[in-house]
Amino acid sequence: MLKELSEIGQAEQARRKPLQLRCCQAAGCLSAHGEELASALESQMDDHSEVLRVGCLGLCSQGPLVCADGPAGSFLFEKVKPDQAAEVVAAARGQQRPGLQLGDLSHPFFVRQHKIVLEGSGQVEPERIESYLARGGYQALQRVLHELKPAEVIEAVTRSGLRGRGGAGYPTGLKWSLLAKASQPQKYLICNGDEGDPGAFMDRSVLESDPHRVLEGMALAAYAVGANRGYLYVRGEYPLAIRRLQIALKQAKKYGLLGSAILDTNFNLQLELRIGAGAYVCGEETALIASIEGKRGMPRPRPPYPPEKGLWDCPTLINNVETFANIPAILSRGADWFASIGTERSKGTKVFALAGKVLNTGLVEVPMGTSLRTIVEEMGGGSPGRSIKAVQTGGPSGGCVPAAELDTPVDFEALQKLGSIMGSGGMIVMDQADRMVDVARYFVQFSMEESCGKCVPCRAGTVQMHRILTRLCDGQASPADLEQLEALCDMVGATSLCGLGQNAPNPVISTLRFFRHEFENGVKHGS
Ligand SMILES: Cc1cc2nc3c(=O)[nH]c(=O)nc-3n(C[C@H](O)[C@H](O)[C@H](O)COP(=O)(O)O)c2cc1C
Ligand code: SF4
Repeated sequence: MLKELSEIGQAEQARRKPLQLRCCQAAGCLSAHGEELASALESQMDDHSEVLRVGCLGLCSQGPLVCADGPAGSFLFEKVKPDQAAEVVAAARGQQRPGLQLGDLSHPFFVRQHKIVLEGSGQVEPERIESYLARGGYQALQRVLHELKPAEVIEAVTRSGLRGRGGAGYPTGLKWSLLAKASQPQKYLICNGDEGDPGAFMDRSVLESDPHRVLEGMALAAYAVGANRGYLYVRGEYPLAIRRLQIALKQAKKYGLLGSAILDTNFNLQLELRIGAGAYVCGEETALIASIEGKRGMPRPRPPYPPEKGLWDCPTLINNVETFANIPAILSRGADWFASIGTERSKGTKVFALAGKVLNTGLVEVPMGTSLRTIVEEMGGGSPGRSIKAVQTGGPSGGCVPAAELDTPVDFEALQKLGSIMGSGGMIVMDQADRMVDVARYFVQFSMEESCGKCVPCRAGTVQMHRILTRLCDGQASPADLEQLEALCDMVGATSLCGLGQNAPNPVISTLRFFRHEFENGVKHGS
């Protein structure tokens, strides 16, 4: 089997044609006729050229995107229509075609990126395991299963400094070692692909673009912690990610990369897909576990934490999609390599979904410690028309960083100091036309609507906060309202049962801290 896998990868490389057109088939480009475009391009191919149906090429705002690599060089074609297929092929062969919109591959949007999690996105054909194998896929698993003991894998992940990418930044190696110590014979692992933050689509993109990377990361984790069953929990609103995972799971089983006696060893792993119904709270780990168990997705108090008592009361490892996607690279290139990227306490890279009032929207992966200014002004191209007012990070659990703090390096600690969080990677740029009270109200409304209702502070407190914020937005607030709002923030944050309620006040607290005058305007102008 081992020989067979490397032979498949080599055969795949050998059959590559000199001119390759990588046509994005991720959700964004598909929604803009990307499928018709791929078919139209295929109809133009000859013996020396081929179309690769790849995942996300990153610059989603300019889709549908096609990247051409051939003897005439590399080109990025933007906003391509299916009836331009012949022109794209001619341009890719080096002929002048002024009707096409050419992207600038030397733009900071591309060159400032450091791709680890996204290195296969836009390169690999997500529906063909051969394409992943040709890029060295499953080599880390093969080597680890034959050469490393589980404890050595955990040691490498610990030394890499990787911290969970789902929001809280918990050290991954430490979480794995808790699991490994558990004596129960049945352990589970779960990949959290719920991704409910407004504006966030990092995990969806990774699952759509490079699903085998996540499966390989999960298999490595399962081997390290001693789990033999696992689940991928993905929200139902992600049908393409679900379909590609189903295909990937089937292919991995067929090649002996999942199931029994994986890669001719005594390691076994069964992975299954579970589809969530789209409640934001189901991303919270205990609610997610309840949902997999077939119960209503509601959080429960912790401790006990999932590594102690998780799925069906068994020790359970739960990690985010991006966390798992980092693992194959760490184990193939080494912990020291990974630890050399980023800041002292936040290692590696982070994928952000850049959105809002910014020229270039899409996915960017940058080393931890890159400044917000670099991301939104250099890579994002700044805000068209007006100047940037603030950047929201961390979604409904995060906060707004004012433009004056744009030189802040993005890492777990620095954003926390500013009252925001890195969160899972949503990054929304706001300009001078945006009113910060509206922004705070929007996020509180989101938390209010997504509250599961189990505990009073969150269920009732978010409603009260929302009412006051609505009065502030309408200029109808009384002076006591502002005081009441601050008291509610303290109470909801301190007494809610889970992270949803505990963090719901964050967007209010951070906007009050930096834009208090806008809240006061809502009071002064009241009747
Ligand atoms: C309301 C709420 C929603 C969450 N949603 C997600 C999510 O969509 N994806 C995710 O990985 N973690 C989410 N988390 C964090 C998870 O509970 C958990 O910490 C995470 O999956 C652990 O993975 P990591 O260590 O790799 O970050 C959420 C937490 C809360 C409180
Ligand atoms: S804090 Fe909110 S979401 Fe969490 S358990 Fe309480 S009511 Fe449910």
